[in-house]
Amino acid sequence: DLYNLRQLGPDTKVHGVIGKPIGHSKSPHLYNAAFRSVNFNGIYLPLLVDNVANFINAYSSPDFVGYSYTIPHKEDGLRCCDEVDPIAKAIGAISQMIRRPTDGKMIGYNVDYLGAIAAIEEALRASNGASPATTSPLAGKLFVVIGAGGAGKALAYGAMEKGARVVVANRTYEKAKELASKVGGQAITLAELENFHPEDGMVLANTTSVGMKPNVDLTPLPKNALSRYCLVFDAIYTPKLTRLLREAQEVGAIPVYGTEMFINQAFVQFERFTGYPAPKQLIRDTLVKNS
Ligand code: ATR
Repeated sequence: DLYNLRQLGPDTKVHGVIGKPIGHSKSPHLYNAAFRSVNFNGIYLPLLVDNVANFINAYSSPDFVGYSYTIPHKEDGLRCCDEVDPIAKAIGAISQMIRRPTDGKMIGYNVDYLGAIAAIEEALRASNGASPATTSPLAGKLFVVIGAGGAGKALAYGAMEKGARVVVANRTYEKAKELASKVGGQAITLAELENFHPEDGMVLANTTSVGMKPNVDLTPLPKNALSRYCLVFDAIYTPKLTRLLREAQEVGAIPVYGTEMFINQAFVQFERFTGYPAPKQLIRDTLVKNS
């Protein structure tokens, strides 16, 4: 039922999500259901991949048309593209790769930042009671990103693009420094972040895996350090309510779930995979059903 095997044929377009591990991924449920709903002749597989370059070379047939990328392959994926979208290049990581029909070349994109930033802006607008305006509610805000990997870069560049003042906090300080310098921001260590309270109304985004199932008792920042944030986003989506988000809520901050980033970027990926408008409600419902 998940893969609609009866409809497989010589014209079926093959897609998948490349990662390691991959068993927890909801993407196959999401895209197979969405493909079916618009009668798109495609299949979407979980792909447990060790070496991205070997995989891409081995599956070079034109029927293998598109991939999503997840931990830990978003940076390797970029190196395996024939061409890379400029924003993905600046971020240094891709989350989607599409085979261009005209010449078979693989083109890389980063859609993570679009999904996360859209979800955060929407939550801020809703809490301000403001109507959607042309200026971003992130403009001028202090925006703290925990982590400096692929997702950390995506959030940092996305926040910078919206006019936020970016702070990058990372376990490995050197990586924080490198990213902060690229987005014109400040770098701090995770230990420093615990005593970082310059102003009220800050936004926090966790992009590390700290708190991900099965380590649900962990949190990247203790509750007593959360009081000056107005909104906390966690890129983790298993579990939906991480310890970080639960404690953020307890101190009065707006929680933005990783599922929202995933839902918003899924709309973009679906449209690029198929050329059809995304069935938004179905994508939301499928995700809820499988969480
Ligand atoms: P992604 O593409 O999802 O961002 P990644 O590129 O592997 O994944 O990046 C993982 C990020 O989470 C890094 O910033 C990493 O910190 P380091 O640069 O110090 O490695 C951070 N991270 C992972 N596990 C962590 C942990 N247990 N504690 C703190 N930070 C952690």
